[in-house]
Amino acid sequence: MLGRREGPLMRNNAHSLRKSRIITAIVIGILIGCVFAFLFPNGFFVPHTVTANRHISLAGSKTQEGSDECEPSDRANMLKSEFVAVSEKNAELKKQVRELTERLRLAEQGKDQAQKQFLVLGKSQKAGPFGTVKGLRTTPTVVPDESVNPRLAKILEKVAVKQELIVALANSKVKEMLEVWFTNIKRVGISNYLVVALDEEIAKYCEANQVPFYKRDPDEGIDTIGKVGGNHAVSGLKFRILREFLQLGYSVLLSDVDIVYLQNPFDHLYRDSDVESMSDGHDNMTAYGYNDVFDEPAMGWARFAHTMRIWVYNSGFFYIRPTVPSVELLDRVATRLSNEKAWDQAVFNEELFYPSYPGYDGLHAARRTMDFYQFMNSKVLFKTVRYDANLSKLKPVIIHVNYHPDKLPRMKAIVEYYVNGKHDALKPFPEGSD
Ligand SMILES: *[C@@H]1O[C@H](CO)[C@@H](O)[C@H](O)[C@H]1NC(C)=O
Ligand SMILES: *[C@@H]1O[C@H](CO)[C@@H](O)[C@H](O)[C@H]1NC(C)=O
Repeated sequence: MLGRREGPLMRNNAHSLRKSRIITAIVIGILIGCVFAFLFPNGFFVPHTVTANRHISLAGSKTQEGSDECEPSDRANMLKSEFVAVSEKNAELKKQVRELTERLRLAEQGKDQAQKQFLVLGKSQKAGPFGTVKGLRTTPTVVPDESVNPRLAKILEKVAVKQELIVALANSKVKEMLEVWFTNIKRVGISNYLVVALDEEIAKYCEANQVPFYKRDPDEGIDTIGKVGGNHAVSGLKFRILREFLQLGYSVLLSDVDIVYLQNPFDHLYRDSDVESMSDGHDNMTAYGYNDVFDEPAMGWARFAHTMRIWVYNSGFFYIRPTVPSVELLDRVATRLSNEKAWDQAVFNEELFYPSYPGYDGLHAARRTMDFYQFMNSKVLFKTVRYDANLSKLKPVIIHVNYHPDKLPRMKAIVEYYVNGKHDALKPFPEGSD
């Protein structure tokens, strides 16, 4: 089941890439059409005499009246003036195209709402036959803006592969876990990962271990949080820093450091949604959603009320594409974390899932839940998988020790179990924490 993912997935990607290229071509076609419609309201093939533009009509009428009797030098002059007129026209056209391109860019940055809608939705179309209709899921990416952080842009140019990379924030308090983290990333053969070093010690540590890192400028405002802040302050910072990666045009696989990499996650992503996240759920229902029926016997005939439930997405491991909804999500979460005392994971999920209602505009972002056996949380491992003869033979892509406080020893045991084949390495640990 795990191995089958790649074939259809890659075909899907190629298919949607082709589709998005076709859409881009159509949009460009329409825009060029608009420019020509503006410049030649009467069409291309009207006689020059009725053309609105004065340069061309002058040159044109002369041609028509005097074409039979005029001298070669006259003809040369005429051609020359016609050439000048056409050149001017050309320059004007270029300017128009430049303006349109600029408007396109602004639209993609979300400054021009109507244009953005047009870009996202394309030309309106008929619905098509029953069962063949699919809503929009994959939002176009933003235009990269290097001016946001030129230094980071340079680093990412070197580190990223196909415009994507793993990013982790770390300060010296998590140094030991960070070591397990990057050791396994290296062992699996992943090169596109980056540590955002929140203090000098971690920056030095990364440098000494040939780990790609990015140390923020101490003057870059929000950074003091990284050094002195508790967990939640750092979480807020995380969303602010992440925004810059997206603005620079990169997809980020955000990763906590209490994660063991066993395969390359980039071989197991779908890339069709704004956010693709691992789940805190432990089975199909809790991870993928279910109908939780609320029973109120006093209501008699209507005693059952149906509700939608899903276990939260884990804000410590998610893949986020550089789109307008993704950036909006990060902004919403960062804003709320700076204004209220809240758990970043709860805020992240509320913003992702709550719909619009009177007085509130919900976020419109596409979401995908990762396979919870491939992107496994430590509850699934320690409560189910290690006891199951079949499941324990499968190698997950990553394991996140999110459910247990004794993170480091459990991470090391996971490496012993999956990498070094020590079958009893997981045995000493209880299912929960004592
Ligand atoms: C759980 O979901 C997976 C993926 O959709 C499916 O292949 C599997 O059969 C499901 N298992 C159960 C027990 O429903
Ligand atoms: C493991 O897989 C085999 C073959 O599919 C099946 O017969 C068996 O019941 C499974 N065992 C468990 C514990 O799920």
